[in-house]
Amino acid sequence: MSVENIFECQLENDQLAVQDGLQLLEFAPQKRPLLEEVLEGLTPKEKSLPAKLHYDQRGSMLFEQICEVDEYYITRTELALMREISGALGDAFGNGCMLIEPGSGASLKTDLLLASMPDPAAYVPVDISRDFLLESATAIADRHDIEVLPVWADFTKGHPIPACEAAVRSRAIYFPGSTVGNFSRSEAASLLRTFGTMIQEQPDDECTGVTGAVVVGFDCKKDQGRMEAAYNDAEGVTAEFNYNVIDRLASELGVALDRNKFTFRADWVENEGAIVSRLWVDEGHSVEMAGSVVTFEAGEAIRMEESHKYTPDEFKLLAEESGLAMEKIWTDDAGDFAVACLRPLSV
Ligand code: AVJ
Repeated sequence: MSVENIFECQLENDQLAVQDGLQLLEFAPQKRPLLEEVLEGLTPKEKSLPAKLHYDQRGSMLFEQICEVDEYYITRTELALMREISGALGDAFGNGCMLIEPGSGASLKTDLLLASMPDPAAYVPVDISRDFLLESATAIADRHDIEVLPVWADFTKGHPIPACEAAVRSRAIYFPGSTVGNFSRSEAASLLRTFGTMIQEQPDDECTGVTGAVVVGFDCKKDQGRMEAAYNDAEGVTAEFNYNVIDRLASELGVALDRNKFTFRADWVENEGAIVSRLWVDEGHSVEMAGSVVTFEAGEAIRMEESHKYTPDEFKLLAEESGLAMEKIWTDDAGDFAVACLRPLSV
């Protein structure tokens, strides 16, 4: 994951579009590199696809549906927890804070947070799905009297932080939903390290230099049956969420895969500390992509997504390895989900 270009990239005029009355910073993932990433994932013996491919417009909507299914406890548990703690988080952010949300999606939990922040400077949602981002950003701008500055980007690749009109005293990162679980432990560490850099003062910074916080929501390890059920829902919404990636490859990247040749299943993998979602190949076949031929053997699988789970202690260690101290952690009564407030260790 390359993140070093976050503050260095120059903005071109055409990267700033005005949409629905909002200034949209466009830093979109390009098709060609995406196809290369896909090919890279399907070439090794153990095939995989990047989890972010799930989030086109339809995938983002399917994810919203997943959040409503009975077995998927994550969203409702986190929302209830946020209702209890958003006041404390608002205080932790302080006045004049710019809130940045990587992978913002529908920005549901953010409403609570924005309402609790004293005199916030701006809200910066960052998402890979352009239409979905604009819809959510517009809805937030309608509900809150705050400057909303959406950034269309793949947040794992780095992006500039938009300038805002209000004075910025500090920046905070809000990374809820257990999105952190989609990254391997070492990727998560480098991502958290990047977040730590983003909230600290930069050369030529308009931010006056109060060091903000990184707030991360993560799913806790629990009974295996419950974790597996959450990703193998009876209605098959999660399966559809994964088949949609196969459809997308065909329609957007010209990779002629057929969803009917795969079967979805998610399993707890103890030594990875993660639910691993896979599409199993039912019958052997080959497809051509970007000038190469990729062969799928019957019985092999494509890894679609990893959803890592942590105990609070494991997460504290991960944060410390990323240069962040765990200032505070909250969990629901059952200990199913946690929200951690992190600050740079050096401060
Ligand atoms: C949005 C990454 C937190 O891993 O639980 C839900 C995505 N995938 N059901 C998760 C997801 C299948 C979700 N995250």
